[in-house]
Order: sequence, then C-alpha cells, then structure tokens
Amino acid sequence: INVAGGSPRIILSEPTGSTAEVLLYGGQILSWKNERREELLFVSNKALGKPSKAIRGGILICFPQFVNFGLLEQHGFARNKLWSLDPSPSPLPSANNQSTVDLILKSAEEDLKIWPHRFELQLRISLSAGKLTLISRVRNMDNKAFSFTFALHNYFSVSDISEVRVGGLETLDYLDNLMHKERYTEQADAITFDSEIDRVYLSTPTKIAIIDHEKKRTFVLRKEGMGDAVVWNPWDKKAKALPDMGDEDYKTMLCVDSAAIEAPVTLKPFEEWMGRQELSAVSSSYCSGQ
Ligand code: BG6
Repeated sequence: INVAGGSPRIILSEPTGSTAEVLLYGGQILSWKNERREELLFVSNKALGKPSKAIRGGILICFPQFVNFGLLEQHGFARNKLWSLDPSPSPLPSANNQSTVDLILKSAEEDLKIWPHRFELQLRISLSAGKLTLISRVRNMDNKAFSFTFALHNYFSVSDISEVRVGGLETLDYLDNLMHKERYTEQADAITFDSEIDRVYLSTPTKIAIIDHEKKRTFVLRKEGMGDAVVWNPWDKKAKALPDMGDEDYKTMLCVDSAAIEAPVTLKPFEEWMGRQELSAVSSSYCSGQ
C-alpha cells in the first residue's frame, strides 16, 4: 500500500505484467493496464481528486442507490467513503492464478440518519492475465429488511467514441434518463454513438461486448446478479458542464455499467446478495461482438 500522494492505494500485479490500482477511498479501481502497459480504463485529466469527491473515471461502486433519490446523494455514499482492508474475507478458491485484494465498507453512524440500515459491503478485486474480476457482497446486519440498488460504474477507455459499437443490448427494453426515464425498445442492431446517451438497459444478457474498431480491442463484460446495464456518454455539452471532465474527454470514454436498478435487491436480516463482474480485454484484428 502506498499512502503517499493521497488516499492509500493497493497495486495488484500478475506474472504476464498487467496491473490494477485500487483506492481505499471509495473502493475505486483507478487503473487497469494490460501486459503491454496500455491503460484500459478512462480517468479524466481534470478529475478533481478532492478528498470529499470520487475521482471521475475508473470503476466506481454505486451503493445503496444508483440515481438521485431522496436524501441520499447521487449514486449513493459508498464511492465517497474510506473503505478498509477486509480482515476476514471469504476463502479464495484454491489453485487460482490471480492477485487479489479484499475490501470492506460497514455502515457508519453518520449515514444511518440518511439511510437507516446496517450493512456490510465486501468487495473482492482479482487480477489475472487479461482479466479483472469484481465480486461484491452486501449483507444485511440489521434486524429488519432493506432494499438497495447497485452499480459498478465502469469508465472504459476508447480511442474514438464514433468508432465504438456495443453488442449484446439490441432488441432490449431500456429506460431513457434523457426522456424522464420513459421505457423504449432498442431498434438498432448494435449500439453506436453520435450524441449524448444515458440509458438503463433492462434484463440484459450476461455478456456485453464493447468493440473499439480503431484500437482493434474488444472489452467483454460478463456479469451475474446484476440484471441491468447502464450506457452513458455525456457528449460535448454535458462534458463541458461537468467541472471534473475535460471538454474533449467524451470522445475517449464510454460507461457501460453492471447494475441492479429496475428490480431493487431486498435482503432480510443477515441475508447476503452477491454480484459478480468479469472484464476482459481482447486485442484482435477481427472483433465479432458475439
Ligand atoms: C451515469 C448516469 O451512469 O452516471 C448519469 O446514468 C450520470 O445520469 C453519470 O450523469 C455520471 O454521474 P456522476 O454522479 O458520477 O456525475
């Protein structure tokens, strides 16, 4: 752990040379580099890095809500808390060729005023050759049931958003955040980008492909326990309006999030929920998206 230069951070590395960087602040993944040391996640150069604000980019943990509702801040408080190393993580599978860190966030007294539920949120981050896996577990530590929504807000780094295609979401229903959350059905064969987009695709397949034609790279996102997927790019006007995003940043990023939004998760006392996301980055001269 390097405590110099701000929040304590953990660097994961594995034998082929890929690395990941994790901040205790927010349990945020700030960097994921492949074996050629190419950065796979987008982080804004204008990211403010203020102690009370999550950095724009990487992978953010959104809990206990994704959206802006009630007293809770947009996308919940988990991304703005200092997490701890988990002293008693669940056992690791044997013979696994990966580098792992386990983090934990527990409900704090000050948050009980705005979200009156005791919980434990565990996050296991594992790096192996070409793969970054996140396992999230939420446990109800209270004597009454609670419900929450959740998302892993993934900022992918892309070469040129106009050349990117997302496969796996065609023909699905989505809620359009730009149209007062109205429900539509996707008509396109694959999602491409030429303006602002902010949608929650519902009941998606477990596999989504983000195909970057210019870089000849495909990100494959596999998920369990999170039925929905958010697709977000602010495009030029909204990017300009965001203080922690450069005017041109929207061209080189795309958020595709694993999420449980439409059907919130409900946990009885001492019940546990688990969500799993596996990202892999494949370089190839032909990307099928299937
Ligand atoms: C997206 C949401 O996932 O995140 C957008 O769908 C939101 O509505 C965006 O604007 C960024 O949110 P924030 O809170 O990190 O600025």
